[in-house]
Amino acid sequence: MKKYRIGIVGATGAVGQEIIKLLEKREFPASELRLLASSRSAGIELEALGQTHKIQETTPESFKDLDIAIFSAGSENSVKFAHEAVKRDCVAIDNSSAFRMDSSVPLVVPEINPQDLDGHQGIVANPNCSSAITLMAIYPLHKRFGLKKFYASTYQAVSGAGAMGPISLDQEVTEMVTGAPPPNAQPSSFPHPIAFNLIPHVDQFREDGYTKEELKMRNESRKILSLPSLRVSCTCVRVPVYRAHSISINAEFSDSVNLPDAKQALSNFEGLEFVDNPEEMLYPMPIYSSEKENCHVGRLRVDHASDNGLALWVTGDQLWKGAALNAIQIAEEMIQRNCLRKII
Ligand code: A2P
Repeated sequence: MKKYRIGIVGATGAVGQEIIKLLEKREFPASELRLLASSRSAGIELEALGQTHKIQETTPESFKDLDIAIFSAGSENSVKFAHEAVKRDCVAIDNSSAFRMDSSVPLVVPEINPQDLDGHQGIVANPNCSSAITLMAIYPLHKRFGLKKFYASTYQAVSGAGAMGPISLDQEVTEMVTGAPPPNAQPSSFPHPIAFNLIPHVDQFREDGYTKEELKMRNESRKILSLPSLRVSCTCVRVPVYRAHSISINAEFSDSVNLPDAKQALSNFEGLEFVDNPEEMLYPMPIYSSEKENCHVGRLRVDHASDNGLALWVTGDQLWKGAALNAIQIAEEMIQRNCLRKII
């Protein structure tokens, strides 16, 4: 079996660490693993794929003799280094929002639009975490009934805010429960208390009152589903959950909907598990979606407020399907489609 030389930019970060775990778990065919981060981490040793690796500072030359680099170090570093990777014949799979809406860059969820990979020019974008998980539930219904529009409210875990997110929640819980701040408390990752609270504010506000995160849901859905006029309205909320995002969806379709067909479409879709048995109190919950490759969908019912509408609830590990796993699946799909080397 052919093996590939793979690099991770942001290997010390929350997503980078999950990429390492998943490369091992999925037995990715790696002949070399290069762990890249900032100069702050250079020289630190990490165990990965059964070997000790030294973190290297990311420079343009870091991509020489690599086949694939997965970027998870924020948009600024993707902008700075992704083209350097491509110049050196290394495909860049980018977790940031830097290139997602660039028309020359495929934005891919491998279960949904793998064919878009064939046209890549060296950079492939990974969707926003909430968009990827939401579309895992919407796409099988779209194929069956034809999507017209959808409304979504997200319940986003603190680990989606980077490695400091869970630390902020821990500190605040300790302070609220004990009445004293923990020693060596770090500044919070959030604009308001997150412990025992909900913050309807993820990413920056725009002039129209939506946040950038909310617009990502609309714009990325349009691109991934190839529905350029799709109407989407979204509210993104940060919640005091450590891991896995949840999304409440109300979707309207062109064809008339029925529950048995909807259930069948969701149950048969790869990467999705249908968890929906109210009598036994079975429904998706973030705690049970953490560190799971599949997303979970349930609470399926006819939407009483729209014509041909369905209401549903999906949960998924945002560090996995929303980031690390989807990026690795993109690499695996590119290997399978034999389109890795097709850099123009
Ligand atoms: P470092 O640990 O050296 O700062 P998170 O989103 O979890 O906070 O992680 C951000 C990731 O991006 C970390 O791995 C971080 O590395 C990395 N990073 C930050 N700045 C740079 C940079 N200038 N070059 C490469 N990686 C960077």
